[in-house]
Amino acid sequence: AQHDAAFDLKAHIRSVPDFPKPGILFYDISTLLRDGPAWKAAMARLADVVRPHRPKLLAGIESRGFLLAAPLALELGLGFIMLRKPRKLPGETIGFDYDLEYGTDRIEMQADAVAPGDRVVLLDDLLATGGTMAAGVQLLRKAGAEVPLAAAMIELAFLKGRERLDVPVQTLISYD
Ligand code: PRP
Ligand code: MG
Repeated sequence: AQHDAAFDLKAHIRSVPDFPKPGILFYDISTLLRDGPAWKAAMARLADVVRPHRPKLLAGIESRGFLLAAPLALELGLGFIMLRKPRKLPGETIGFDYDLEYGTDRIEMQADAVAPGDRVVLLDDLLATGGTMAAGVQLLRKAGAEVPLAAAMIELAFLKGRERLDVPVQTLISYD
């Protein structure tokens, strides 16, 4: 595996202009995921970021967060839990509603997914405004978890999403 500082993660992420709307530059992880050695190197880097926080569980945010959190949990020998869009999970759920630019959104998790005080690291592919990640942290806390870290592969630094989070935030690459 490539576990070297020279690995250029940015070179494997494609930027797509005007997606999903005119004026938005979309950072696409598809080109990373379809390259086996590059994906592996990126995950190794994420593992190094997450491991020191000694989580019991990793939580991924639907849907692209799953693509990082599930394989990373497997790699680290940890359990994985899903933070999902509403009405997707069976059994008793806990939800958290949060504001969007227009309207509101909601994420849910299973009520019995964490025990009080469990250390859960939250993962998503990308930190933009931080609204999604902040909601994930709040939801995990509502369920009784302790959240020592929120991590993402990509950060859109100009949106200052990390300022909305009251937990340590680590990202692998950042765009201005
Ligand atoms: C994207 C991205 C993050 C979120 C970041 O998800 O995967 O989850 O937006 O934005 P924010 O920091 O402004 O909240 P999206 O809603 O596009 O859904 P997907 O992961 O299912 O593709
Ligand atoms: Mg997402």
